[in-house]
Amino acid sequence: MINIVALISGRGSNLKAILEGIKGGKIKGKISLVISNKRDARGLQIAREYGVKTLFVNPKDFECRLDYDKFLVDIIKRENPDLIVLAGYMRILTDYFIDSFPNKIVNIHPSLIPAFKGLKAQKQAIDFGAKYTGCTVHFVSKEVDSGAVIIQAVVPVLPDDTEETLSDRILQMEHKIYPQAIKWLSENRIKLEGRKVIVKNAIYGELPTNPKLEDF
Ligand code: GRF
Repeated sequence: MINIVALISGRGSNLKAILEGIKGGKIKGKISLVISNKRDARGLQIAREYGVKTLFVNPKDFECRLDYDKFLVDIIKRENPDLIVLAGYMRILTDYFIDSFPNKIVNIHPSLIPAFKGLKAQKQAIDFGAKYTGCTVHFVSKEVDSGAVIIQAVVPVLPDDTEETLSDRILQMEHKIYPQAIKWLSENRIKLEGRKVIVKNAIYGELPTNPKLEDF
């Protein structure tokens, strides 16, 4: 049983996909706490619907980013989590936060990193004229959207795509690769060697995801 703390800022659709994976018995674990930096994040409501404890921590109550993150670290440590899942969390973490949970923080980003890091990755792909983009689940490192890659999914960019249509197409893959990566983590199948992640006994070399999805 893996114990997860999730950080969100908004809609919470990835959080929901993970909660469904747990509810359906595919992921052997639980989310003990969902924290948001936005009071009205829809994801907080979703968490409550699944019976998960939630907390809104207002950045305005803190003098600086470090104080905010220290508060978060204290709260999260009390949950004794195996994994911290960033699911649309729109604040850059301080080094203090990242150092507090070595190799225990994962994120999903809507591009094939290292392409299109940062905000509005889907729009960046369209503006660039890329023909493929996708999504990436990765460990969180101190440089934004740059940590070791666990799984990526390739998604085509179509001529008439808008930011919305492309984002929707990518999101469908996000909802598969994020629960899958968390399932592998919960099964202790993920080996991290420097920047390289190997999922033990996974199938590599196929499209659209590498490694191949097993359960989602
Ligand atoms: C997703 O596109 C994710 O890749 C990015 O933020 C968005 C969060 O969406 N990091 P949701 O809140 O999970 O619906």
